[in-house]
Amino acid sequence: MQKMTVNTTEKYDILLGAGLKEKVAELLLPFCPTKKVFIITDDIVDRLYGEEITESLNREGFSAEKFVFKNGEASKNISVLSEILEFAALKGFKRNDLFLTLGGGVPGDMGGLASALYMRGVPIVQMPTTLLSAVDSSVGGKTAIDLKAGKNLCGAFKQPKLVIIDTDIIKNLPDDIFACGMGEVIKCNIIKDLPIFDYISKGAVKQNIESVIFDCLALKKEIVEQDEFDTKGIRNILNAGHTVAHAIELLSGFSIMHGNAVAMGTVIEAKISEKLGFCNKNTAQSIENAVKSSGLYFEIPFSKEDIANACILDKKNKDSRIVFLLPEKIGSCREVKLTADELINLL
Ligand SMILES: NC(=O)c1ccc[n+]([C@@H]2O[C@H](COP(=O)([O-])OP(=O)(O)OC[C@H]3O[C@@H](n4cnc5c(N)ncnc54)[C@H](O)[C@@H]3O)[C@@H](O)[C@H]2O)c1
Ligand SMILES: [Zn+2]
Repeated sequence: MQKMTVNTTEKYDILLGAGLKEKVAELLLPFCPTKKVFIITDDIVDRLYGEEITESLNREGFSAEKFVFKNGEASKNISVLSEILEFAALKGFKRNDLFLTLGGGVPGDMGGLASALYMRGVPIVQMPTTLLSAVDSSVGGKTAIDLKAGKNLCGAFKQPKLVIIDTDIIKNLPDDIFACGMGEVIKCNIIKDLPIFDYISKGAVKQNIESVIFDCLALKKEIVEQDEFDTKGIRNILNAGHTVAHAIELLSGFSIMHGNAVAMGTVIEAKISEKLGFCNKNTAQSIENAVKSSGLYFEIPFSKEDIANACILDKKNKDSRIVFLLPEKIGSCREVKLTADELINLL
């Protein structure tokens, strides 16, 4: 097992290794003297791991309640959040009890927000079960739900007490869900020169999953520690590939999953960077090769104009220009602002 400490206002550890789900009770105990745990998960994850985790907690004398909602981004809304909060109150959870999210970014983001709101804040442990949530959403304290007006528009910062990543769970993911996480993994290798593109080309990502996740988290930790509340512009670097990704998600009505959209975004943004002369052909090609070798879906069914118009809505935009974090080479990105017309010409 590896341990990494995130030095935010409240310090916390990320534990990473095989078989950690068998040790959940032992790992939660220091954060839950009352031994009352509220598990927030979705129906697919519940079917796979819900019973096992609940039973192992019960065996160690914990009392665990579980709220299960339908899987998918469509559940990340205010009515499911409200049901979670009402359920916690109904079951008598108090401020010194513990919330535990078990699942991908959707249970993580929504359970995280519930823990920030319930009784003005209760401790939470994140247990990510997708590659995307392991390398990205479970760490850094951003929690949110979607509003009708847009994704992640209602949220709070809430750092967890602990993050538990069981690499056996990640290795056993269905191929398409694993591939989605590779979108964020590839993004990390664009921001920082890591050995991951090499693993991808050798088909060795799963064999090296612990070091892949560790490297991505070390990058996230480094950025989050410098800009915990996203006020200094430093966290923006984590949005490489995301301007186009958000446009693609929006245009698809969120049927293209976030991680896959990020992968598409990294390739399109690398080509924009190449056309602007900011990176060379090899850099753009190595990003495209990494995406295409990771089993990600890559037909973009939208016109240049639609993509540019959707990019205009991106949260990062300044002075009516669209902000991109474009690769200069593997391991380095720069902020570039473009008008919609400039973007259409470059797509
Ligand atoms: N808070 C942040 O910093 C941050 C960062 C990146 C993404 N996000 C958010 O994360 C979400 C996307 O995360 P995601 O892709 O993990 O979504 P998700 O939670 O919807 O998981 C994707 C699918 O995988 C299934 N699944 C989860 N674990 C599984 C397992 N072990 N085996 C089989 N199936 C499993 C889920 O049921 C779901 O159908 C988005 O809402 C995005 O906005 C947040
Ligand atoms: Zn992302």
